[in-house]
Amino acid sequence: MRPERSWRSLPIVRHLLAWRLRTLTPLHGGAARGTPIVRYYQHDFLDRYRSDIRGRCLEIGATSTVKRYGGDAVTEAEALDLAAHSDDVTVVADLSRADHVPSDRYDCFLNQFTMTVVYDVEAALYHAIRILKPGGVLLINFGCVDYYLHRGLDMGTGAPLYMYNWFTPLQVRDIFGRLGLSDDDVQVHVYGNLMSRIAFQVNLSAEELTERERDIVDPGQPLLICARVEKPQDWRTDKPTYRDPTYTPTEAPASLRADTGHYGDAYR
Ligand SMILES: C[S@@+](CC[C@H](N)C(=O)[O-])C[C@H]1O[C@@H](n2cnc3c(N)ncnc32)[C@H](O)[C@@H]1O
Repeated sequence: MRPERSWRSLPIVRHLLAWRLRTLTPLHGGAARGTPIVRYYQHDFLDRYRSDIRGRCLEIGATSTVKRYGGDAVTEAEALDLAAHSDDVTVVADLSRADHVPSDRYDCFLNQFTMTVVYDVEAALYHAIRILKPGGVLLINFGCVDYYLHRGLDMGTGAPLYMYNWFTPLQVRDIFGRLGLSDDDVQVHVYGNLMSRIAFQVNLSAEELTERERDIVDPGQPLLICARVEKPQDWRTDKPTYRDPTYTPTEAPASLRADTGHYGDAYR
């Protein structure tokens, strides 16, 4: 995806607009304008592994992304979520407690922009792999920095979401290792650099960055970690011991707004 160029991407305009970075709150009150940089990176990742999105596919919350990227190669598209909030959701489950979802069922599981709000990550990844057919593929991402949902966020998907995790590449590789996966089974792609991390937090879109500002990868400044995991034919690992949170905020969670997404009403 090459973000559309606008007058805002002209060099002189970009430099004049740089004064806006000196801000205490996200630009435009958090309202999205253009493509969030993390979606730009996720597109690059999904485009690279488009051929894995085929057969019986599962996605979190919706089926639109597997259909868009897999096209005719997708024979069945199902969504998993905490509640049946739309007709797409045929699998109601907390992924970290998904014992009732049969094993060896899916050719591809797309799990995007969700692991930051899952408390028991190891259990969720255990089930994510268990429900794949042998040779099936998990396409997953992990956020490294983000707006912190300090009150939680109600997306109307079954339960308020709380942000428990921001990830590092080392941590992601370590969890997959603990789940019995080797380097041959897991390809990790790290995206981001100092500018794109700042841009994401300040709410600048991908269109407002230059190609270099978007695409240079500085391993010391990761913004998004994407991983392709192929379930080994003989995958066998013990189910992790389940862990539950000991504390939940008592304030009312923020409500999702179409224009401000994960910021909810925080800056409106
Ligand atoms: C921020 S949205 C991301 C998915 C969205 N389709 C996208 O592409 O951005 C997070 C989704 O994960 C779901 N979710 C959060 N925790 C979950 C869990 N433990 N098990 C299953 N789904 C969960 C939420 O209900 C919500 O639909």
